[in-house]
Amino acid sequence: MNNKPIAIVTGAAKGIGKAICTRLVTDDYHVAAVDMDPEGGELLSELGQTNLEYHLMNICEEQKVKELFAALMERHGRIDAVINNAGIIRDNMIWNMSVDDFDAVINVNLKGTWLMCREAAIVMKAQKSGRIVNIASRAWLGNRGQSNYSASKAGVVALTRVLALELGKYNVSVNAVAPGLIDTPLTQMLDKEVLQQLINAQPSRSMGSPEDVANTVAFLAASQTRFITGQTIYVDGGKSIGANM
Ligand SMILES: NC(=O)c1ccc[n+]([C@@H]2O[C@H](COP(=O)([O-])OP(=O)(O)OC[C@H]3O[C@@H](n4cnc5c(N)ncnc54)[C@H](O)[C@@H]3O)[C@@H](O)[C@H]2O)c1
Repeated sequence: MNNKPIAIVTGAAKGIGKAICTRLVTDDYHVAAVDMDPEGGELLSELGQTNLEYHLMNICEEQKVKELFAALMERHGRIDAVINNAGIIRDNMIWNMSVDDFDAVINVNLKGTWLMCREAAIVMKAQKSGRIVNIASRAWLGNRGQSNYSASKAGVVALTRVLALELGKYNVSVNAVAPGLIDTPLTQMLDKEVLQQLINAQPSRSMGSPEDVANTVAFLAASQTRFITGQTIYVDGGKSIGANM
């Protein structure tokens, strides 16, 4: 059994997920880091062996998700925070987008998050406490070339609102964080020219850092913010304001 609060972070191996793990370990959580990257354990090794355990798995596999929660409950007896961060992009204009690219994005970003939320809800409802933080995206408001991704993240926002209603009376809060342009391996894959255009369209004229997102996640995961629920907090340098663009 562990005296520290227990948090699960998905998509933990790099980018925003790794920054969330780093922040939560610093805040004295015990973190169960989940990723499908076989090198994830190595990538997170600097965070130490005692405060972090690595689980190599795909959040889209229902049985694996169930086994994860069962194993953590057996080992720790409770789960205090679940941060659903794993996500992928497969961008294209809709006329060039394949069904495979639509399915892949919906499967990870929405169904995988839903599977994690369902197990979190079962555990947290029974223990009458918990925090769920889902990583959405500012793109849920609409982004050209992201009909699959924007729809998946709009689904995450709706899922968050529904779960806030369903779990409120069990002392479980559920919120979403909607990052804008953040400097991670995901955005480093973008064409340099496209990336510069995106930066120029930011009110901040800069990208956010993974730590900017991690700070907001840590705030929502903390017990002091228990009366905030069903909300989507933008961490996007003002892009969601939408004026003068
Ligand atoms: N980077 C941005 O600008 C940005 C903006 C808005 C929202 N987001 C969202 O933030 C989250 C993290 O993005 P990032 O930029 O750090 O991405 P990233 O690609 O750098 O890291 C994502 C991690 O998720 C893991 N992953 C992917 N599918 C998985 C699955 N099925 N099961 C388990 N692990 C899986 C990957 O292995 C990877 O380690 C995503 O949900 C993304 O949509 C990112």
